[in-house]
Amino acid sequence: MRQQDQVAYLERMLGMVKTNTRDDGPGLSHTRVEGYFDPAQYRREVDVLFRRHPIVVGHSAQVAKPGDFVTHDATGQPILIVRGSDGVLRAFLNVCRHRSATVEPKPCGAGKRAFVCPYHGWSYDLTGRLLGITDGSAFGDVDKSQHALRPLKLAEKYGLIWVVPTALADGENAGLDIDAYLGAVQPDLEGWTMEGWQRHSFEPIVKNMNWKLVIDTFLELYHFRYLHPSTVFPLFLDNIATYEQMGRHIRIAAAKRTLTEIESQPKADWRILDHAIVLYSIFPNTVLTYTQDHCGIFTSFPISPEEAVLHFSVLISPEEKARKPESYWEANRNLFASALVEDLGIGETIQRNCHTGANRQQTFGKFEKALGWYHAEVDRAIA
Ligand code: FES
Ligand SMILES: [Fe+2]
Repeated sequence: MRQQDQVAYLERMLGMVKTNTRDDGPGLSHTRVEGYFDPAQYRREVDVLFRRHPIVVGHSAQVAKPGDFVTHDATGQPILIVRGSDGVLRAFLNVCRHRSATVEPKPCGAGKRAFVCPYHGWSYDLTGRLLGITDGSAFGDVDKSQHALRPLKLAEKYGLIWVVPTALADGENAGLDIDAYLGAVQPDLEGWTMEGWQRHSFEPIVKNMNWKLVIDTFLELYHFRYLHPSTVFPLFLDNIATYEQMGRHIRIAAAKRTLTEIESQPKADWRILDHAIVLYSIFPNTVLTYTQDHCGIFTSFPISPEEAVLHFSVLISPEEKARKPESYWEANRNLFASALVEDLGIGETIQRNCHTGANRQQTFGKFEKALGWYHAEVDRAIA
């Protein structure tokens, strides 16, 4: 985030404290409650958002070395991601080209030279090429070059891995221009220098909630005072936050209680992460929360119209990790996790109550405008 933007955000938030105002949008916004359970909309979201858009499926730290691999099924497509001996990261459908068995059953591994299908032993190298057909004479006419693992578009940047979970046609390019997709948030992600950060923790959390309700919980600070009084609210000023639409993505800065100390310091030294967290909603299903010393990554995946799995992980720079004891990072993760329990507990009540007929639509106040933007973007994308 450019220094001038950091100063501008900090000034805006200081102004809100002084005048007791909020970063209000022009009016109310809404989303229909059916959007959280309608099977037709759900199908459309999976087909468009989770098949045609770049989805964060992991972090570079998980596959740092040649031969490291992870598998990922949460988009609904079985994905195998592996770093080749050339250092290049590639993604494939984790589906054998013989009779469609799952090739690699493990969630992750290291030192791989080849993938061998457990059903009849066909083998593939780290670039997906079909190496060997067992009892090959029975398959005399099979053209091996036409039976490589089916590649997927992949981009690896800023410590994150994005994949578009749709099978590429023969000969189609597997490159993915993630910078173009990120648009206005690209310089920020580049500036936070998350490449090379280590993964401190990862947990999948399954909830009876539509996958978008999980994202909703991150898009406003209004609820902190009421829902998180003893977890994260003590760290933050009450609903002092800036919200900005950046193409299809959203940037939010949320002021910590230390914000008011900043005025005594020269502006050249103002650093937003010293007094706020900066949060990005990366369309369609990822939230990144940058703090002084780590990044929380939250990715929401649909299981069914009314079930989702949230992948929650924490990335830390190696320097910061060395500087602070493990107990510090554990306490930090636990704080995040406790707030999540509160958020997702409420979310499950919302999911159930959407069926009651009490509300035809959810009402978003002026300072909940990011929710309006987010749902409008989903609607636009699946229209
Ligand atoms: S299905 Fe993989 S070798 Fe037969
Ligand atoms: Fe929350």
